[in-house]
Amino acid sequence: MGVESDLRPRGGGLSTWFARRVSSPGFQKWASRLPVSRALVRRDGAEVFDILQGFVASQVLAALVELGVLRRLLESPVTARHLALSAGIETDRMAALLQAGAALGLLKRRRDDTYALARKGAAIGGVPGLEEMIRHNHGFYSDMMDPVALLRGGAETNLSAFWPYVRGRSAEMEDGAAARYSTLMARSQELVAQDTLLTVSLKGVEKLLDVGGGSGVFLSEALRRNRRLEGMLFDLPDVTPLAESAFERAGLRGRVTVHGGSFRDGPLPAGADAISLVRVLYDHDDETVVDLLGKAHRALPPGGRLIISEPMSGGGRPERAGDVYFAFYTMAMGTGRVRSGGRIGEMCRDAGFVSVKLRTARRPYITSVLSCVRPG
Ligand SMILES: C[S@@+](CC[C@H](N)C(=O)[O-])C[C@H]1O[C@@H](n2cnc3c(N)ncnc32)[C@H](O)[C@@H]1O
Repeated sequence: MGVESDLRPRGGGLSTWFARRVSSPGFQKWASRLPVSRALVRRDGAEVFDILQGFVASQVLAALVELGVLRRLLESPVTARHLALSAGIETDRMAALLQAGAALGLLKRRRDDTYALARKGAAIGGVPGLEEMIRHNHGFYSDMMDPVALLRGGAETNLSAFWPYVRGRSAEMEDGAAARYSTLMARSQELVAQDTLLTVSLKGVEKLLDVGGGSGVFLSEALRRNRRLEGMLFDLPDVTPLAESAFERAGLRGRVTVHGGSFRDGPLPAGADAISLVRVLYDHDDETVVDLLGKAHRALPPGGRLIISEPMSGGGRPERAGDVYFAFYTMAMGTGRVRSGGRIGEMCRDAGFVSVKLRTARRPYITSVLSCVRPG
């Protein structure tokens, strides 16, 4: 991977000498007694413990979703006993789950020992696709059970089976595979579409080609917000029928053409003055991405725009969503990788694009957006 000129690491970090001192038990003991350093030692300890318990916390969330607890609490507060009966779980274990949910700030324990939803817990139901994603993470966490084996690579993972196109195996997709991943994507794409379209304007664009557009959620949202815009959607032939019926249902069929094909095997359809790649590049290795960006450049007219929207690495300034969750998720897929805005921009420039602009993400755990132009 190339060096990112615009996102170089800042200085910082401990000198090796000082890091060795800090990591000695004697130093920790001494520092925890001094009034100046006591608070720091405590805070560091608590934060390290939080990282350590992260997996358990996410499994508590998974159990709350799988047992329908969050949904049940939308009706009324309940006791552990009541929930235990309907879930077929012993009362003291259900109480432990609810207590853990309350400790994580998802639930609230009330004075009468019933549990209710806290604001964060209630918000989960309001985020499209989040509960499905929490369930889907089950397979990802299994792939993460042996992180060193995952890092060494080579093993078949749950996620590479879930996303069969990543190794160019789209032609041998089993029945239902495309519908399975497209449904998961469609639910979560609503927020991605909103954040992307709030970040970049499509003013002046007449026809937008959404490559890897799935079941058309992004394109539909773009068409709804821009009354004069027309759309083209390009995706694998197993996926495009889903997009066709979605456009039909949304009453947008007359404004869109749908094209089935693989960007690995041929050119992208021409005729659009803007191309979007939403959560597409991070599925693929550099070679595929370089090839795809070249095809996008050739399919656009001079002055045509390319919009890339996906979760990104923080590059020289590592950040949690891109560099922890998405970096390992795409690694478990097999060929994917999270790139920084700087790196993607560099690849776009190499493909011939100019005016590369990285837009500050409102919610980097949902998406970041980069746009660039094919020169006239
Ligand atoms: C992660 S999904 C994203 C879908 C949608 N853009 C979204 O954000 O929800 C990636 C999409 O790229 C499509 N795709 C993968 N490989 C492809 C290829 N070789 N040619 C065309 N589309 C492809 C997949 O079918 C899938 O719909």
